[in-house]
Order: sequence, then C-alpha cells, then structure tokens
Amino acid sequence: SSRKRLVIGNWKMHGDTAFNTELLTALRTGIGSAPQCEVAVCVPFPYLYQTRSLLEGSGVTWGGQDVSQHEKGAYTGEVAAAMLADFGCRWALVGHSERRSYHGESDTVVAAKAAAALAAGITPVVCVGETLQEQEAGHTHAVIDRQLAPVLALGADSVAKLVIAYEPVWAIGTGRTATPEQAQEVHALIRQRLREAGAPQVRVLYGGSVKAANAASLFAMPDIDGALVGGAALMASEFLSIAAA
Ligand code: G3H
Repeated sequence: SSRKRLVIGNWKMHGDTAFNTELLTALRTGIGSAPQCEVAVCVPFPYLYQTRSLLEGSGVTWGGQDVSQHEKGAYTGEVAAAMLADFGCRWALVGHSERRSYHGESDTVVAAKAAAALAAGITPVVCVGETLQEQEAGHTHAVIDRQLAPVLALGADSVAKLVIAYEPVWAIGTGRTATPEQAQEVHALIRQRLREAGAPQVRVLYGGSVKAANAASLFAMPDIDGALVGGAALMASEFLSIAAA
C-alpha cells in the first residue's frame, strides 16, 4: 500500500535518565537519519526534555502517552497538547486500554483528547481494542465500532490526520499475540469504517505482545501498517528489529 509504515514504542511507566540515555542513543544510532519506516517513542512526561535533547535531528520522533482534552486551565496533574508541542512531540497516544480501564476514560473523552491533540498540531494515536471477555462473547466488532464512533464523528478532515492502533486487551503484556489473521480481520473492519468516514489512508497499527519474532508476519497483512510496541520497546535490539521488519 502507499501508507508509510510506522512503529511506535510505548515505554509506559518505565525508565530513568540513565536507562533512557542508553536506549535513546542506541535508537538514534540504530535507525540512522533516513529510516525505511517512521519510528517513534512515547515516553513518560518528565523525560520529554531528555528525549528531545537526544533525538533531535535523528530519524526517530517522539510523543506523549496521554494528553488532556482541555486546552489549559485549572486541571491539576494534566498535560496540555500545546505543552507536548512545546517539547517537539509529534504524537500523543490517546485512549490506551490502560487509561480506559484504570482511569475511566470514556469513548467521548478519548475523542475529545484526539481533537485537542489535533488542535495543537499533534497526531493522536487513538487506541481501540476489546477485552478477553468481550472477545469470548463475540462482541469484538461492536466494541470497536462503539469506541470508533465519537472519533469518526470528528469529521473527515480530522480523521484523515489520525493514526489508529488496534490493541486487543487480552494480548497486551501477556505474551499472547493475536494471530496475523485474527488481527487482520479487525484491521479490515477498521479500514472499512475509515473508508466510510472518507479517510481510507489512515494508518492502522497493531499492538499487543509484538516482538522481533512475530513482527514480519503481522506486517505482511494488507491492513496492518505498523505496530504499537510496549515491552519490546524497552530493548533497543528488539525494537530495532521490529522497525527493520
Ligand atoms: O502500547 C502498547 C501495548 O499496550 C502493547 O504492550 O507490547 O507490552 O504487549 P506489549
């Protein structure tokens, strides 16, 4: 396809300045200045300054793991999209399943966060995915449609600027990856919805126990445009191998 491949590392709540220096330097060196695909890392907020310092001018871009739906104001503990932009962020994850389940983020809040990121010129990476219980009950498509609805309602111009990440919750951090065919089946649904929304070129990433050993078979699927990588993004060699795949 003409969609440019994208691999994003989500560090989650890991790292410290010493560890980050080592990892970011290894990525900077390993990716070089003209990578075949787009490569990015989403780091904890306190390390955005360090990340910018170490990645500026490299082939690796960076972003936040969340963003406030509010522009500014009395929202203690929140981080505004303009603040992410101020630190050179290109991306913001929104609606990661860990935010949805541990912090009660609703589908509408997630869409509002995506809109706030877009308003600041940041690409929201909107995460969707069903739980094990929902999957076993045969509700996967209904859940994806419910999660996508308020995001698609932002309108074709906005939707065209998004990235979607499909992460089945049962595959996150469990070592249990969806098979390429299982993932493709849901990616095809998401692609169909994007087409209907007038934005067929939006990239759809797969996330959930992606590692060097399974990346190539996932990326061989027609509607999988890259990966959102958790655990394996903390190891330079693993992450670089996924990007190479
Ligand atoms: O954002 C990343 C996903 O939650 C996947 O995490 O690769 O550790 O399974 P994982």
